Amino acid sequence: MAFQNIVITGASSGIGAALALHYARPGVTLGLTGRDAGRLGGVAAKVQAAGAVADEAVFDLRDRDALTGFLAGFDVAHPIDLLIANAGILDGRRADGTIENAEGARRVIETNLLGTTDTLHAILPAMRRRGRGHIVLVSSLAALSPLADAPAYSASKAGLLSYGLAMRAAVAPEKVRISVVCPGYVTSAMTESHIGEHPLKMSAERAARLIARGIVRNKPLIGFPLPLYLLSLIEPLFPEFVVRMATKGIRFHVAPR
Ligand SMILES: NC(=O)c1ccc[n+]([C@@H]2O[C@H](COP(=O)([O-])OP(=O)(O)OC[C@H]3O[C@@H](n4cnc5c(N)ncnc54)[C@H](OP(=O)(O)O)[C@@H]3O)[C@@H](O)[C@H]2O)c1
Repeated sequence: MAFQNIVITGASSGIGAALALHYARPGVTLGLTGRDAGRLGGVAAKVQAAGAVADEAVFDLRDRDALTGFLAGFDVAHPIDLLIANAGILDGRRADGTIENAEGARRVIETNLLGTTDTLHAILPAMRRRGRGHIVLVSSLAALSPLADAPAYSASKAGLLSYGLAMRAAVAPEKVRISVVCPGYVTSAMTESHIGEHPLKMSAERAARLIARGIVRNKPLIGFPLPLYLLSLIEPLFPEFVVRMATKGIRFHVAPR
């Protein structure tokens, strides 16, 4: 299926930028959002050089008025057939060993979980009326295999996984599709702030291709890389001490950005 009108949140960097460039071609209009106007403009320029139309919007997605205003306006001009809710942040344990506090946990959950459910709901009614459209929520393998060093991040991504799969079943009769993406380590600004091992890390471009392939196949859950995805799926079957031993080598801390 060739999508014509696509919105990607968090398109100013990493996976979102790679997705924007993956879909950029003549005949496609891309709505791109982020907070950093300079980086977002750079991605928009590349998207336009590839022959697509780019419509940029700079806002913090916790600002619901800005979020819904942009999405509603874009959708009137270019009825969205693919919405990728990709924006997100990582926070967690610091270099000195401090674990996250209530404020940090709130910020992560507001951005990753509530910011993403707000993004979905800004467009879902229009897609339901049209009886078509695909919404993609970018979660993480941390949703399946929670990280001791990033509890709120893990919870936000588990919430997204559950929300997306439940909503997929709810709107399937109306021909609206919802998929959830669970990436492992992908090269990006986020992984630069994740100080620790990054087993099987892949490029953002490869992640974008895997995500696009899963979207075409209308997969409920798009998880990669395969070995880590499979391990994450079976992790709850193992006793806690086995999981702790196995994950000892991938403990990390987060460098503030
Ligand atoms: N990289 C990985 O290994 C990995 C693994 C699993 C899941 N993921 C998920 O993949 C998604 C993309 O991450 P990435 O690795 O590409 O990281 P990234 O390079 O840091 O990109 C994150 C994007 O989200 C945007 N963003 C963050 N907070 C925002 C806010 N409050 N309002 C608006 N935009 C906001 C950023 O915008 P600005 O930069 O303009 O502020 C940026 O465009 C995230 O949801 C992340 O959790 C990543």
